[in-house]
Amino acid sequence: MRTLDLAGFARVFGCVPDCVPPECVAAMRGVDFQYAVLEGKSRDAIYVRVLRALESDLKIAGRHRKARWEDGWTQNLRDFIASGYDRQNLVPKFVKQNEVVRLERNYVLPVDPEFETHFVDVLRTWLFKTYCAQTGHIFEFGCGPAHNLVALANLFPGKQFVGLDWSDASQKLIAKIVEVYQFKISGRPFDMFSPDASCEIPQNSAVFTIGAMEQLGREFEPFLQFLLQKRPAICINVETLYELYDQDDLFDYVAAAYLRKRGYLQGFLPRLRELEREGVIEILQVQRTFGSLYHDGYSFVVWRSRGS
Ligand SMILES: C[S@@+](CC[C@H](N)C(=O)[O-])C[C@H]1O[C@@H](n2cnc3c(N)ncnc32)[C@H](O)[C@@H]1O
Repeated sequence: MRTLDLAGFARVFGCVPDCVPPECVAAMRGVDFQYAVLEGKSRDAIYVRVLRALESDLKIAGRHRKARWEDGWTQNLRDFIASGYDRQNLVPKFVKQNEVVRLERNYVLPVDPEFETHFVDVLRTWLFKTYCAQTGHIFEFGCGPAHNLVALANLFPGKQFVGLDWSDASQKLIAKIVEVYQFKISGRPFDMFSPDASCEIPQNSAVFTIGAMEQLGREFEPFLQFLLQKRPAICINVETLYELYDQDDLFDYVAAAYLRKRGYLQGFLPRLRELEREGVIEILQVQRTFGSLYHDGYSFVVWRSRGS
């Protein structure tokens, strides 16, 4: 059995332990981050599961999936209201409990059934304390049930948050959360396939996505152009990044194949690198962290427009 301790998190985030802020250490406290690395037959059984999934009829991301997101967030909204506004019901239902995850190039079985949720909590705290402490507004595009914004509103009570999504149910969730908890969060409908140029992003704002650009496949350019035009102080994209997978390595190969099969984000990182070479943007960090069973959905790239 291994444990993800402070040094382990620092390694996964690509920093030294001294750069892990106290709020992050607080988020680790009381959580069991022990896990077993799967080896031999147990690991082979996971490969068989993943390969079977790749052969199955997986749903492909794109415009046609909007209704599916609407259904998902409507269910979260219903559960949130029925539970008397229990924030646990803001966690997306695709976050599985008691599931194998991908960590440091291994399939691992965590002890804590909610390992993924707790890991994301620590990662989100680290990212925003590291890169957004000085920014004003924080915008999440593709915010879904707004659980990231609720966590960040607790972390930064003085800041103003905006949750954008193409789903009406997501916007209704934000309205309900604000009505009940009075967080400084507002909502705005937004389609990343057809960005609305009238959406204002004040100077010194941070923009982020978590598992949302993934859904754009190769059609990310209009949203990228929108960001380049708005020039936020910092952009954080926590997304599966196709080009980080080593196609000659089995563990990575199956993840890359999964991305291709689902039509997830491809080409974004090379496009950012091209913009960096042209002097348009500056990339501050690219990092693989961990993933759920099929791919590393929590890799991230942090970047900003030059001169912003
Ligand atoms: C995997 S969920 C992630 C939700 C949230 N960011 C999180 O971390 O749980 C993807 C989100 O992106 C939204 N989305 C997908 N395509 C979109 C588009 N073209 N414009 C705006 N939102 C979109 C979906 O409605 C959904 O809320």
